Amino acid sequence: MRKKLAAGNWKMNGLKSNLGEVKSLVEAHPSPACDVLLCPPATLIGAMAEAAGGKLAVGGQDCHMNESGAHTGDISAQMIADAGGSHVIVGHSERRADHHESDLIVRAKAEAAIAAGLIAVICVGETEAQRDGEQTLDVIGEQLAGSVPDGATAANCVIAYEPVWAIGTGRTPTLDQIAEVHDFMRNTLIARFADAGNGMRLLYGGSVKPGNAEEIFATSNVDGALVGGASLKASDFGAIIAAL
Ligand code: G3P
Repeated sequence: MRKKLAAGNWKMNGLKSNLGEVKSLVEAHPSPACDVLLCPPATLIGAMAEAAGGKLAVGGQDCHMNESGAHTGDISAQMIADAGGSHVIVGHSERRADHHESDLIVRAKAEAAIAAGLIAVICVGETEAQRDGEQTLDVIGEQLAGSVPDGATAANCVIAYEPVWAIGTGRTPTLDQIAEVHDFMRNTLIARFADAGNGMRLLYGGSVKPGNAEEIFATSNVDGALVGGASLKASDFGAIIAAL
């Protein structure tokens, strides 16, 4: 049985003064039915882990593929673990677009995360042009094949399906479209990883909010959500957690 996961991605938002949201969240949801993860900017990982007091997991939004070295501005998976993080998002479409990250790079980052003892949250998703061109499943299949490392297990990897056109737009796919992709991902992962593929959690991300969380979570092979904007406020994220 896969335990549901509510994951929040604060993206480039959040200062120390916003950590009160984390305290409010853990106070309002002291023992949630699902796992809860928040991924703040790197500057807040340590402070957020402290504020959360072990009541929720904290993670990074990206890591370098190397453990250390001359890579100005980057952080390693080991550093995230050292700061109190347990997860790291890799291959978010904003990084694939802004930093030209290929599947090969994403896979190397996921491998680095796993080697450092972190859980890799590997993101995939089609653009609007790809969906309109009926290429969605081909794109997702290619990204899964390229980005998910051979050593992936249910314990060290989570997959997040985030249609690029649904991120921050208020638009979401229909429930049938989400089910189609999630069922496809499940079958693809089982074909490659057997039982481990059945155990990996599959998150949906893209304009998840309190009002649509319940129906999305009830969709086939959806094991939780990766939430952007609605994870910034304890009240919204708390409502999403309660819907899981
Ligand atoms: O990683 C989460 C994300 O890209 C979705 O963002 O703001 O549409 O929930 P948002």
